[in-house]
Amino acid sequence: MSKQSNLRGVIEATAIVIGSFVGAVVIITLLVSGKSESPTTPVAPKVVENSAAEENTQPVAAVEVADASPAGSNAIAADKIVQANCAMCHASGLMNAPKIGDAGQWAPRIAQGKDTLIHNAINGIRTMPAKGGNAALSDEEVAAAVIHMVNSAGGSF
Ligand code: HEC
Repeated sequence: MSKQSNLRGVIEATAIVIGSFVGAVVIITLLVSGKSESPTTPVAPKVVENSAAEENTQPVAAVEVADASPAGSNAIAADKIVQANCAMCHASGLMNAPKIGDAGQWAPRIAQGKDTLIHNAINGIRTMPAKGGNAALSDEEVAAAVIHMVNSAGGSF
């Protein structure tokens, strides 16, 4: 008799523990799902996507601006960018990178067009790493570096 009532007591206690645990989980789940719903409802995420799209499309327009004054401070800045980020491969022709100043090696590249070359330098192509491996460079800086390298190899971007 006493064993049975003990067992009942244990079962009841277990039921209470499990019950309160399940209850807590349900309440927490409701709270969490309630919280996560509110940030997704406003229009804010759409605005973020739009600004990201704008950022991605900006460099194309900015390239024209950098292009407007090829000689002068822009050219000096571009040369520094090239020396610091591109020369390690493009000076020596490492991994068959087209050499700076080598018109013969650059001619077929230049023939692809300015936008394509800039796009490939920004995003990388084959063994050419995106932005020369320096993600901290802006698209405009990479574009300026491409223009500088092309123009020093007989091109006129
Ligand atoms: C780690 C070595 C490396 C660095 C650093 C590097 N490049 Fe290159 N780059 C290459 C190689 C290799 C190629 C040839 C890729 C191919 O055509 O297979 C190349 C090709 C290119 C091309 C021609 C792309 C095409 O479509 O033909 C451009 C433009 C270019 N690099 C620009 C740059 C600029 C600008 C920088 C500096 C910001 C830079 N690279 C830094 C290795 C490098």
